[in-house]
Amino acid sequence: MSQLVESVLVPIFYLLSAVLFIFGLKGLTRVRTAQRGNALAALAMLIAVVTTLVDLGLVDYRWIIAGLVIGGLIGTVAAVKVEMTGMPEMVALFNGFGGGASTLVACSIVWLNVIEPAAAGSTASILGPDAAITAFLSMLIGAVTFSGSLIAFLKLSGRMGGQPTLIPGRHLVNGLFAVAAIAAGLYMAFAIGGPSGVATAALVLVAVSLVLGVLLVIPVGGADMPVIISFLNSLSGLAASMTGFVLSNNLLIISGALVGASGLILTQIMCVAMNRTLANVFFSGFGQEGGAADSREYSNVRSCGAEEAAMVLESAESVVIVPGYGLAVAQAQHTARELADLLEKRGTKVTYAIHPVAGRMPGHMNVLLAEADVPYDKLIEMDAANPEFKLTSAVILVGANDVVNPAAEMDPQSPIAGMPVLKVWEAGTVMVIKRSLSPGFAGIKNPLFENDNTMMIFGDGKKVLQDMVAEVKQL
Ligand code: TAP
Repeated sequence: MSQLVESVLVPIFYLLSAVLFIFGLKGLTRVRTAQRGNALAALAMLIAVVTTLVDLGLVDYRWIIAGLVIGGLIGTVAAVKVEMTGMPEMVALFNGFGGGASTLVACSIVWLNVIEPAAAGSTASILGPDAAITAFLSMLIGAVTFSGSLIAFLKLSGRMGGQPTLIPGRHLVNGLFAVAAIAAGLYMAFAIGGPSGVATAALVLVAVSLVLGVLLVIPVGGADMPVIISFLNSLSGLAASMTGFVLSNNLLIISGALVGASGLILTQIMCVAMNRTLANVFFSGFGQEGGAADSREYSNVRSCGAEEAAMVLESAESVVIVPGYGLAVAQAQHTARELADLLEKRGTKVTYAIHPVAGRMPGHMNVLLAEADVPYDKLIEMDAANPEFKLTSAVILVGANDVVNPAAEMDPQSPIAGMPVLKVWEAGTVMVIKRSLSPGFAGIKNPLFENDNTMMIFGDGKKVLQDMVAEVKQL
């Protein structure tokens, strides 16, 4: 019976779990199917955990149940308590835990098989060269991911300044740490240094990798942090995949590779949307939060109230709502939907233009608008939205700033030069709802606010939209 379970049922359930992971990921690529995708992936994880427990019949279940209960409780509390705006830092923290877990598993394999039994020979001769190398890589990548993700979490949650920290000669220092980590890893894998030599090399490898993770992430500014998080997510998948090789567990290899590949694709999408390379994000020290731009840099700014805005909307044939990070802060998605419904009842065509990096995480705006039950077919992506602005009567920006900054197109010296943006300035009237003339995440001036066809409506996004709803009702 146990033979049947081990050789037939376990591989079948692992395969089922891997297939469910793939369909789960596929579901996550569309807002419409995202919830189902999440549920499928969660089911896959449950099957994977139960199958592994059955497969490893000798495991002490008390520890596993304790781990499941504690981890489940922490996850539940975090999921319930964390605000939508705090999601990126939560993802960063969870990535870090994934990397840390891979490192610990690889360490324990080396400990149990090589160090504790004081086995003669090298790690490679005991575990096999491929397992020894992958254990080394799992420790290296997992530890870099752990400490790098913690720094990303601290920066994003405001516990650490978002400014890039640039230490002198940092590329050389990073290079030296990388060489030291590789040397320690190779020693751990191949040297016949006895158990104490292997233990010391493993400790040095993990310690140096932890420092390397910190050094790699501190020069990255707050604005670039979501790209780094996505990249670290990819690394945590890679570390898990390596651990799968160490444990000869096909499911871990596959699921880790899926996380690694999808994280890398997401990183690439974000880099393209910001017109940057990954190397530029890591090494340029760009991406400082909140810059020098302030209200004194602006002239010819026209501000108005909700009443004037409603008068413009009264005659508008088509309106495009552009959500940005401020919509998330103000939690104004429901009120934006209410205004759109009212305008549509009056015969106005209303759509929402979504920039790929609006907000602070991929899909941020899609998630918020889905929460407000905005129909998916009203969400227009940047490439489709841009040619339409010329034909649009009015655009309403709710807390959007960098993603509509014309400097990206018109000023080659701008830090965001070349970043594709929504060309809202081509519309008849542009209404900008935000609290002040403060800059967005890139910390730069936005010349859109000085255009003749721009109306600034200062105030909290939700409050201004509520006032506009009230005014439109009176029309
Ligand atoms: P931002 O350029 O960051 O601008 C957000 C604006 O919202 C601010 O200027 C702020 O102005 C306003 N705001 C804040 N709270 C508000 C409230 N309660 N009510 C009304 N307005 C409020 O946002 P964006 O246009 O969405 O651009 C996103 C930025 O993040 C880009 O620079 C992008 O490159 C960067 N980024 C995003 C991602 C992803 S994946 N989304 C990844 C990396 C980087 P006031 O303070 O004056 O109100």
